Amino acid sequence: MRVLSGIQPTGRFHWGNYFGAIRQYVSLQTNEQAFYFIADLHALTTVRDRKVLEQNILDAALDLLALGLDPAQATLFRQSDVPEITELTWLLMTVTPHSLLEKCHAYKDKVAKGLPADAGLFTYPVLMAADILLYDSDVVPVGVDQVQHVEVTRDIALRFNHAYGGEFLHLPEARVLESAAKVPGTDGEKMSKSYGNTIEIFEPAKALRKKIMSIKTDSTPLEAPKNPETCPVFTLYKLFSDEPQQNALADRYRAGGMGYGEAKQALYDAAMTYFGEARQRRERLAADPEGLQQILRAGAETARRKGQEVLQRVRDACGLGQRLTAT
Ligand code: ADP
Ligand code: TRP
Repeated sequence: MRVLSGIQPTGRFHWGNYFGAIRQYVSLQTNEQAFYFIADLHALTTVRDRKVLEQNILDAALDLLALGLDPAQATLFRQSDVPEITELTWLLMTVTPHSLLEKCHAYKDKVAKGLPADAGLFTYPVLMAADILLYDSDVVPVGVDQVQHVEVTRDIALRFNHAYGGEFLHLPEARVLESAAKVPGTDGEKMSKSYGNTIEIFEPAKALRKKIMSIKTDSTPLEAPKNPETCPVFTLYKLFSDEPQQNALADRYRAGGMGYGEAKQALYDAAMTYFGEARQRRERLAADPEGLQQILRAGAETARRKGQEVLQRVRDACGLGQRLTAT
């Protein structure tokens, strides 16, 4: 079974990205044929600074590898290293009704927030459909916000198959990631880059401590008993600890006499321990830029081999046939 997912390089990954997505990608790589890619073409709809994009792409690759994506098990690549993607996007665009794209929430939300309604943003779901269909993907693990795009992908595949009379494109299924949308940010709302409340996974120790200390808590006095279940510090602590540790901290909340500062310190220690190995791995990976490029190159080659096979099937279906190769 082929599992495929993409993540946009629009900034450093945060705890929400890890617990909501990356952790699941890592666990799926053991038993399934996993393809994961850095969606740099998608990121162009929002990142318009060359240096920032270059850095984001490198950081995304380093973060994913440091967090446990293993190139010996999963194929990790950069979306734009597979040019077949953009060709398939065009072919899919020719069977995609305008009205289907007009219904997409992500597009409507971004336009409502004031982002310019350029054709890239509007046709973003078609590029995503190409990402998925190019490799005959079976399962697409995504957060709830992306489920509609997988539905659109199925719709486009059906339309293509219907237009050309055959099973040329394989229909994928979305798999909603369980803990998606649950990790709170420093203000207690859902952690998200767009709310400016994120805690980055590989934040330097000092900055990490500062962010954790800034998590919003209520004004219950130090001596008073506190409710762990309504406190974002405790919700975050649970992600990094086992049950006995959680019970111990919860008891201290309920007993009173513990300030939020202490709970925050416990969260900081737990997070440093949890990502300790990953931090070291990231440093080693960052010290070998050529090694990183090799991993991405090898990933792109594997992805392209599969992609070229599917694209040929699609070109044959619509009458384009074999592409000339330059001599
Ligand atoms: P952001 O909201 O910071 O822009 P993205 O939309 O790029 O993050 O999310 C990338 C992945 O991380 C998605 O699969 C999304 O569901 C997951 N994710 C993001 N924030 C959270 C969160 N607070 N809790 C759980 N999962 C999250
Ligand atoms: N649109 C996805 C997001 O913003 C990223 C993405 C691009 C993706 N192409 C994909 C996810 C293909 C799954 C499959 O999170």
